[in-house]
This record gives sequence, structure tokens and C-alpha cells, in this order.
Amino acid sequence: MSQDKKRILSAIQASGQLTLGNYLGAIKNWVALQDEYECFFAVADLHSITVRQDPANLRKNTMDIFKIFLASGIDTDNNVLFIQSHVSAHAELAWILNCYTYMGELSRMTQFKDKSERHATNINAGLFTYPALMAADILLYQADLVPVGQDQKQHLEITRDLACRFNGIYGDVFKVPEPYIPKVGARIMSLQNPESKMSKSDPNPNGFIGILDKPDIIRSKVKKAVTDSDGIVRFSEDKPGVSNLLSIYSACSGMSIADVEKKFAGEGYGVFKAEVAERIVECLSPLQERYDELSKNKDYVEKIYRESAEKAAYVANKTLRKVYKKVGFIPGR
Ligand code: TYM
Repeated sequence: MSQDKKRILSAIQASGQLTLGNYLGAIKNWVALQDEYECFFAVADLHSITVRQDPANLRKNTMDIFKIFLASGIDTDNNVLFIQSHVSAHAELAWILNCYTYMGELSRMTQFKDKSERHATNINAGLFTYPALMAADILLYQADLVPVGQDQKQHLEITRDLACRFNGIYGDVFKVPEPYIPKVGARIMSLQNPESKMSKSDPNPNGFIGILDKPDIIRSKVKKAVTDSDGIVRFSEDKPGVSNLLSIYSACSGMSIADVEKKFAGEGYGVFKAEVAERIVECLSPLQERYDELSKNKDYVEKIYRESAEKAAYVANKTLRKVYKKVGFIPGR
């Protein structure tokens, strides 16, 4: 592995199936950045249990997401794709960072507020201290850059604050990471309720496009997407449905939003939606084909996550040892 390249760390929770939002906000950029950086990408299964999970589903989701990472085209010779719970340093550093994180800053997290409303009978301590675990994920790898969607910006800020606070007390222990939030695709909205983010936990399956949705399903969901009544393909705050479809078209095709507007000037929503669906299909089909291949090759997938856990642990433990020493623990291993 390169000593000179800057580092990236990012992760996706293992709860529910991944959506087009996860793809355009995160995975697509991981693939684009992988040659320039040394990358660590994790399936964040430890994060998932902040919400109650059925164990069999959690195992299935973790494997599915791991296969999607592999199928997205990330080169595993030069980058590390791993499962968070396989590297115990994540839980260990999270404990330490918990002791440097203030209740006040955790209670300002919008994700905590949202999730505690949605899971009112299970507002557990893990849900509250979740950002300290996410900070541990990032800081263990001395990551320079963290490619995420817009919704993770606040967690990145607390990670930076924690790194600076810790460094302020103990000297230079952690690299202070920068967020990488794409200009288009950072916040893909629900197709049914374009005022809220496309989410894997949406109970209405027409609201989101799953990364593994087949072409006909994609076409039918896009056809049913909520728009408006003025019939003009234009990006505007007061046209959230059409603007969301424009962002999706732009992120999938690489065309600017202005060029997409020009392309569909004078066209109705029917034509526009059909083309949006085709761009999504083009984007996801190659990934889906590789995913199906990987599903037949369990041994290969297992070999990759086992080897990757070792590579990740090597890097993570180096940081953890330094942290243990700094806080005053007696070296025991
Ligand atoms: P998660 O699992 O909710 O989402 C994974 C990634 O997908 C992005 N994303 C979106 N982007 C655009 N539009 C959307 N509708 C959309 N929905 C999700 C998210 O911004 C994210 O980049 N806490 C994190 C997982 C995590 C993590 C980390 C991320 C754990 N440790 C360390 C970065 C670094 C989360 O819940 O993301």
C-alpha cells in the first residue's frame, strides 16, 4: 500500500437496502477518488445496532452492502473494503472519544433528534453517542478526506472538533479530516415526498430507488415520482420534485443541470421522466451484474473481507496504541 497517497475513510450503515441516494451521494465518489487516495471503506454494522435489528437481517444486509462495495468497482488490491465489527479498534477508540465528547454537542445532532423521534421507545445511549463511534472510524485511519452526502456534514464537524480537542490536550495525535460533499447528488430526495431525503428506512418503496432495483422497477418508480403542475423542466426551489429528478439525471450522466434543462426545454414530464429512468438504469446495471456474479462466489467475498480486516486493523491499531499511550494507559500488548 502506498505511503505517499492521502487517505480516505468512509462507511455506510448496514440497515436496510442501499438507495440511489447512497450511490450518488457516496459510493460513486468513492469509485472516482480511489486512484488518487488510499481508501478505507467500511460497512458500519456497529452503527446499525443503535436501532433494533433482526440478527439474520443484519447479517444479510452487511453481506449485501459488502458485495455492493465490491461490485461498484473499487480495486481491492490498492484499497481496503472491510466490515467495521471485524476491527475491534473502532469500539475501543469510540469509548475513549466518548470521554472527550460533551453531552451538549451530542444533543445538537439532527440525526439523533430525527432517530429518537422515529424510535421513541428505544432512545438508547448508543444512539446518542453514535457520533463518537463515527469519529473513531475516521480518526483511526488518519483520514485526510471523508466523502459523504450532505446529511453527514454535522457528524464530520463534531469529528473535526474532537480531533482538535484531543490534539490540543495531547499533541498531534489525529489528522483533522476534511469532508468531501459532491456538488450534485449530495442530497437526493424521496421520489414521493421531495421535501425529505431519499432513505433506506422509507416505509413507502416508491419513495426510494434501491441500488439493486431492476430496470422495470426503476422505470415504474420514476414514472410515479411526484412533480408539479406547471410542466416545465426547470431547477427551482419551488419545484422540489422536478429539481430532484434533474439532480439525479445530472449526477448519473455527468451533464450539468443547466445542460439537462436545455436538453428538455419544451418537453413534457413524461419524456423527461422516461429519460431520467434510463440514466439511472445505465448507472446501476453494470454494478448489478457484478453483484449477481459475486453472489455466486461466496468464498471470494469472504476472502476479501477477512484479508481486509487484517489490513485495516494494522493501520487502526497503530493509532489506537498511540492514543492509549497518550491518555496514560500502561502498554500491555
Ligand atoms: P448512511 O449509512 O445513512 O449513508 C451512507 C452514505 O450515503 C449518503 N446518503 C445520501 N447521499 C445523498 N442523498 C441521500 N438521500 C443520501 N442518503 C444517504 C450519506 O451521506 C453517507 O455518505 N453515519 C453514517 C455512516 C458512517 C460513516 C462513518 C460515514 C459510519 N461511520 C465514517 C463516514 C465516515 C451514516 O449513517 O450514513
